[in-house]
Amino acid sequence: MNTTDVLEAEFRDGTIRTHGPDGFEGMRAAGKLAAECLDMLTPHIVPGVLTDELDRLAREFILDNGALPACLFYRGYAKTVCISVNHVVCHGIPGERILREGDIANIDVTCIVDGWHGDHSRMYGVGPVAPRAKRLIDVTYEAIERGIAAVKPGATTGDIGHAIQTYVESMRCSVVRDFCGHGLGKVFHDAPNILHFGQKGAGEVLKPGMFFTIEPMVNLGKPAVKVLSDGWTAVTRDKSLSAQCEHSIGVTEDGAEIFTVSPAGLFKPPVETA
Ligand code: MF3
Ligand code: CO
Ligand code: CO
Repeated sequence: MNTTDVLEAEFRDGTIRTHGPDGFEGMRAAGKLAAECLDMLTPHIVPGVLTDELDRLAREFILDNGALPACLFYRGYAKTVCISVNHVVCHGIPGERILREGDIANIDVTCIVDGWHGDHSRMYGVGPVAPRAKRLIDVTYEAIERGIAAVKPGATTGDIGHAIQTYVESMRCSVVRDFCGHGLGKVFHDAPNILHFGQKGAGEVLKPGMFFTIEPMVNLGKPAVKVLSDGWTAVTRDKSLSAQCEHSIGVTEDGAEIFTVSPAGLFKPPVETA
């Protein structure tokens, strides 16, 4: 067990926390910085860029803003962002890979501001992409919107999963089962788990002040994934394309507040088709 495990074991006891105005203030600042980090990266996501260069830009941006990159040294992870390209579902490790025209890539960043975690990801097309790749990205964004629309006090985590799954499957895509959204706040990965599939009324009842992520992973092919020998990179077993996007949100008295709103309006970066 490493240090992170010890710390998390101490804080994560399975109870679902609710937070007051100070928590909302803290999460707004953390979510905003995560969104600004991806806003900053957007013009750099072009054919020929090294994924490690994007990681360096993100790390320096977060540190320059007096915040901390949550993923750096988290359970032995050695980078600031995850960059998941084409059939990589999540947790792709930046390195010597160069982005090429036609690739689709998810970039996922989490920053810690005054102890609060802002966890956020978006999809990018690298130059023009195939029409089916753009369609997958569009389905993934619509899926997260439908999931967020299901959030209000008295609804359940299962309502969120049900909204996402029924939409994604109606579009002849599939929802990844092996990874889920999560509570967050002062803890990075906290209770409850937010499954992106499920039954109406199942799971935990949502209450004002709960904070969690919604981060559906959607595949063009089958939902099955496997993790590569690096211990992180998750890929589709059938090598079909996969897409993901993620917001950190809080349950309000009548719905949801999105903490990771892009100040530049860049949550859905424009994707061109070939
Ligand atoms: N940001 C990811 C999430 O959405 C977690 C990445 S953990 C890492 O929960 F160590 F892979 F970076
Ligand atoms: Co994330
Ligand atoms: Co997350």
